[in-house]
Amino acid sequence: MTSTPVRRPVDRLARVPEPAVDVGPYFDLDHGLVDRTIFGDPALYRQELRRVFAPSWLFLAHESQFVKPGDFFTTYMGEDPVIVTMGKDRRLRAFLNACRHRGMRVCRADAGATKAFTCSYHGWSYDTSGRLVNVPNGEDYPAHFDRDQWGLTEVAQLDTYKGLVFATWNPQAPPLVEALGGMTWYMDAMLDRDPEGTEVVGGVHKWVLEGNWKLAAEQFASDWYHVNISHASALMVMSPTGKGPKTEIVQTPGRQYTDPLGHGHGFPTHPKSRFDDRVVHGHYDYEALRERLGDARVEGPMTTGHATVFPNFSYLPVNGSIRVWHPKGPDRMEVWAWTLVDRSMPDEVKDAQRVYNLRTFGPTGIFEQDDGENWSEVQATAHGFVSGSMTLNYQMGLGLEAEDGVHPGTTGRLYSDGAARGFYARWRDLMNTPAWHEKDTR
Ligand code: FES
Ligand SMILES: [Fe+2]
Repeated sequence: MTSTPVRRPVDRLARVPEPAVDVGPYFDLDHGLVDRTIFGDPALYRQELRRVFAPSWLFLAHESQFVKPGDFFTTYMGEDPVIVTMGKDRRLRAFLNACRHRGMRVCRADAGATKAFTCSYHGWSYDTSGRLVNVPNGEDYPAHFDRDQWGLTEVAQLDTYKGLVFATWNPQAPPLVEALGGMTWYMDAMLDRDPEGTEVVGGVHKWVLEGNWKLAAEQFASDWYHVNISHASALMVMSPTGKGPKTEIVQTPGRQYTDPLGHGHGFPTHPKSRFDDRVVHGHYDYEALRERLGDARVEGPMTTGHATVFPNFSYLPVNGSIRVWHPKGPDRMEVWAWTLVDRSMPDEVKDAQRVYNLRTFGPTGIFEQDDGENWSEVQATAHGFVSGSMTLNYQMGLGLEAEDGVHPGTTGRLYSDGAARGFYARWRDLMNTPAWHEKDTR
């Protein structure tokens, strides 16, 4: 009996070539114009998975979800299912959650602890470093079958930034800290308040919204504008008189940071424009924070910031909400949200933060409900031929961005579409650039 050696590398990405669409004509960002086609077109969605999600650093989990070897968490990178796990060497790794035999998911739990991932189809089994360690009926395979070639597909790079775990499939992506760029100064207002760092509490909340993921990502990067209108009833509930939002919220000054890498962050700078929980607020020593993070961060992002790390990780530092907008087709996203707390907070403060986050930005939170309603309504009206290809207005704050000498990088007014324009400039450039896998000619 003869056996044929494997001809092509087993880890090669074999694709049916798909034509790329030039998305340039959908934008005139110098004049603040965006064509609505980018939110609903199936071909653009496929291109976005290939050219925006596959090459970018994507948020996976928080380090505190992995305490001992074998701890794992399953999530998605774009629409690719992945397992994040701590190996025996205590290193975090991430693998495609797809068996190398026929592609079955090898891990079907949301999270847990295990010694091995055993496929429930034919029983191939992988250890926590991704090696194929057991193959039932192994004697029936040919002599050249080499288990070492059939381990789980591992991400090209995995790294953490102050507790947040990110990974990318792109071997040519710059290091994570470079990809975060100037955004780290702003992120530290949430991640570096406590010398002991942060952790997540209360599990992961997951819900589905009928809207394109970019609607949520751009809003968290850029949109304070909707707050007084969309959240009017929530602000009334929270106002001391119950009659209307405080003037300092409606008229609040603030800044909005636009990053050339597509990240964005808005924040009021009025000291009374706060949405934080009283217990959490009472816990903080603001003088110590000023020393640690500087006045600009305590008076800015630490009031009530909202932010997106390109492409689909967003957060609200004061509410303690960190979340991912998982794409599920052009018309649908899945929101996965955690509550982030400082490690050295007493338990009752951590719990106050958790409950406050759920009340405001949990799946039934008084603010979250308003936001989800907007995104689904916007998507629903984009299904028509005419309504789906109209031009949208992103002109707020055009021409008003500058270096302000206080906040690093380019900032504009709080009420601005600046970070949304930056987000779409980055998205457009990635969509129009062949990704590393398109240049791979092996
Ligand atoms: S698909 Fe996993 S063992 Fe067959
Ligand atoms: Fe909102």
